[in-house]
Amino acid sequence: MRYRAMLLLALCWVAASTLAASGAPRASVVPGFSRAQAGTAQVAAFPSPADLETFRKNIELLFVRPRGGSMPGYAACVMCHTWQTSLRFSLETPETTQGWTPAQSRRNFDVVTQVINTADPESSRLLLKPLSPQAGGLGHTGGTYWTSKENPEYQQILTWIRSFPADRYVAKPGPPLDFEFFRACVQPIFANPREGHIRCSNCHDSGLAGFAPVPAGGGGWSDAQAKAAFQVISRLVIPGSPEQSRFLLKPLHPDGGGSYTHNGPRRWQSRSDPEWQMLAGWVRGERTGSRCS
Ligand code: HEC
Ligand code: HEC
Repeated sequence: MRYRAMLLLALCWVAASTLAASGAPRASVVPGFSRAQAGTAQVAAFPSPADLETFRKNIELLFVRPRGGSMPGYAACVMCHTWQTSLRFSLETPETTQGWTPAQSRRNFDVVTQVINTADPESSRLLLKPLSPQAGGLGHTGGTYWTSKENPEYQQILTWIRSFPADRYVAKPGPPLDFEFFRACVQPIFANPREGHIRCSNCHDSGLAGFAPVPAGGGGWSDAQAKAAFQVISRLVIPGSPEQSRFLLKPLHPDGGGSYTHNGPRRWQSRSDPEWQMLAGWVRGERTGSRCS
């Protein structure tokens, strides 16, 4: 762990010098990401060596660029986005102090092109996550890196995405999350702690992860409150992929496949908990309506 942190720091320094000078994944599909076009001919033809070279020079280095801190909005992207943090968008842990090897970059390329959309470049998650919500961004646990679309990094990535043919990297949309089921079956979980636990609302009543506001007036949640909570939880869910959804990972015990860290309780010991299963069905788009059992 200590070694890894030092390696990342050294690497960030290298990236800083390289970027100052220049101005900026496994060959199969990553589980949980789905592609619109899985044509094998295409998979074989792309990326070209030139595609990879451009990626290594103009895009990949942005992920190790130091930003003056270790907090969200200031930490280098790789501080969080490697597989250790069990995020879906997870880059390789760089093997050398000079950065990723070409083989690692090849795998990173596959990972990064899962969070872009060449059919509608500006809708790419890679652009919308680090962008401030005030400027149209989606909100990001990792923080805001760009206060506007004028930011040179934003522009650099946008130019890169636009350089591909429109049909090259188009993510298949996930199943819709049902709001009615959220109201009827998901929200009550926030208010009903398991024995010995405290409510999610004690810590998640407002802010970026404020999916569990305390009901106004002591009764149930108003429609407006429920809508707002649904927006927040939607950000913490990856439709179609319960195993990669933070909402289902944070309160799950690490021995049962949950996150290594959560400053709150572990509500589920394993994925076989019926409640976890119910939520997983909802995230997969299989559970809708107001019947919880
Ligand atoms: C402090 C940790 C942290 C840092 C630093 C961080 N992120 Fe994140 N990022 C997260 C977490 C946690 C999520 C998942 C929750 C969310 O989407 O907000 C996430 C989600 C994302 C996603 C969505 C991935 C998906 O699966 O759809 C993208 C894209 C992303 N981050 C890009 C970046 C970029 C680019 C940087 C650097 C400029 C960065 N992040 C820095 C923690 C971080
Ligand atoms: C004692 C306070 C506390 C309680 C109670 C608590 N949490 Fe948390 N939770 C935190 C803190 C602090 C974080 C941010 C740091 C971390 O990830 O551990 C967090 C992070 C999260 C995240 C990730 C948020 C993000 O922005 O990426 C999710 C999802 C989450 N909690 C779900 C829950 C659920 C569901 C419950 C109720 C079953 C719950 N938590 C109860 C303190 C708490």
